[in-house]
Amino acid sequence: MSDGVMRAAHDVLIVGGGGAGLRAAIAIAETDPRLDVAVISKVYPMRSHTVSAEGGAAGVIADDDSLDEHCYDTVSGSDWLGDQDAIEAFVREAPEELLQLEHWGCPWSRRPDGRIAVRAFGGMKKMRTWFAADKTGFHMLHALFQTSLKYNEVRRYDEEFVTRLLVDDGRVHGVVAIGLMTGRIQAVTAKAVVLCTGGCGKVFPFTTNANINTGDGMALAYRAGAPLKDMEFVQYHPTGLPFTGILITEAARAEGGWLLNKDGYRYLQDYDLGKPSPTPELRSMELGPRDRLSQAFVHEVEKGRTADSPYGPIVHLDLRHLGEKLIDTKLPFVRELCLKYERIDPVHELVPVRPVVHYMMGGVHTDIDGATPLGGLYAAGETACVSINGANRLGSNSLPELLVFGSRAGRAAAEYASAAGSTPAVVEAQAADEVRRLERDLLGKGPGTESIAAIRDDMQATMEEAAGIFRTGPAMAKGADTLAELQERVGNVGLADMSRSFNTELLAALELANMLDISECILEAGMQREESRGAHQRTDFPARDDERFLTHLLVHRNPDGTSQVEHFPVTITRWPPGERVYGR
Ligand code: FUM
Repeated sequence: MSDGVMRAAHDVLIVGGGGAGLRAAIAIAETDPRLDVAVISKVYPMRSHTVSAEGGAAGVIADDDSLDEHCYDTVSGSDWLGDQDAIEAFVREAPEELLQLEHWGCPWSRRPDGRIAVRAFGGMKKMRTWFAADKTGFHMLHALFQTSLKYNEVRRYDEEFVTRLLVDDGRVHGVVAIGLMTGRIQAVTAKAVVLCTGGCGKVFPFTTNANINTGDGMALAYRAGAPLKDMEFVQYHPTGLPFTGILITEAARAEGGWLLNKDGYRYLQDYDLGKPSPTPELRSMELGPRDRLSQAFVHEVEKGRTADSPYGPIVHLDLRHLGEKLIDTKLPFVRELCLKYERIDPVHELVPVRPVVHYMMGGVHTDIDGATPLGGLYAAGETACVSINGANRLGSNSLPELLVFGSRAGRAAAEYASAAGSTPAVVEAQAADEVRRLERDLLGKGPGTESIAAIRDDMQATMEEAAGIFRTGPAMAKGADTLAELQERVGNVGLADMSRSFNTELLAALELANMLDISECILEAGMQREESRGAHQRTDFPARDDERFLTHLLVHRNPDGTSQVEHFPVTITRWPPGERVYGR
């Protein structure tokens, strides 16, 4: 490249080495072995957040189940905001993908007769969640990673952070990235780019998400001109450990665990989620959908029926009646996490839990093949919003989602790259600009007057306050004003650390910039959606309003950095909007 910018070139570049990214890489290598494909990731692939998924992956396999029932559960779980053509494709392809993963080495748990075991999961009215004990994500990622190693044409850039997409005339031609070990900044051009960088849970203070989940792919796409869709829908998982936010899997409730308030009462029976029964009932009480369970927690707080903890109000998860044998067989990781992080043994003691941010239903707007409105730019997994999840994702739909749509996006990107022309010269100037920005504005700036940690804390507190389980217009507007101030303050951040190797301060500054942009989109969309649907509950607009809001919201970035929101139709194929009913 001219201007002294180092450059590498590939046919397809995948940003993110987790489940979606690796599945996309394999799909590309299988679609056309002549294509040169690269995976660039800010962490070593096995450290991607997919590894921490626990409970399982949904796919119809049981004799008494059907594709239509999985579709319906997903549609109603989404509060009718999921696109039904995408949901139908997802449900059809999920079992094929899960079986494929078995052939690649994923050790699915078995029934005594050797058939695949399935468990219940929240909001699913049939048992259809495949699992590998309660370390499903670890085993899936391992199977994908080892399979990707078979393909010599898959090149990897581990521990490299992408700071910008290179775009010309509405088409994406690659990225600029900084190597975390070397500090080397280079352009990596590609005919197609697939964003698979996961979610953005770290914009909130309490989350099951890893520290790496800072919405990087969403921010890259947004700044490059691709809109973000359904950003107002943020999922709280009802059972995180109170201090760390570590996930205590829904599988614990699927295996029969109870949620108790401070009086030892199974409070969910008061929230139209069914009544207690001697055996766990599918879709009832503890197996209701996550939005409803998290909302019930807030009502318990309001009634003064939660216990206090140093980290705020909590309820208890009771697994004691399940017995040591079941816990050690089906929930060994739950026991390990409770022992290590809370010094509590769930075989004998109650586990303190609270709702924590878990998943972003929104993301980069794509079609059913992962294509964004920008030519050559694709997205899959939590980074993307296809949308199958609408206003509320059902537990265990995200792992098959990253397989189905990672694969689809990979195939589409391969096809696009095969037909695409060469990289235009203009992106060289863009790459040089980006190198200058990083060198001058960050690495060359010296210490500033603002601290990254302080702004990040303020952002997280603002988001919890403005866009938590319940929201109001005025609270979101106030949050948006605070974010605008934080955007000003971030300009005064400097770096005390000028080193090139593993400069974590630099990385934190880049991630903070991404999170601030994403936070603004969440509030922008939240303010526009004047209704309550799924995970977006507005106390000032408590009813669902299909008349005005049976629609996706797309947040676009204006050239001056402000945003605008556009309505985009929801695809309804076979299931007209209805009432979401659980426990009856
Ligand atoms: O609770 C869990 O194991 C989470 C699963 C999911 O988010 O799909």
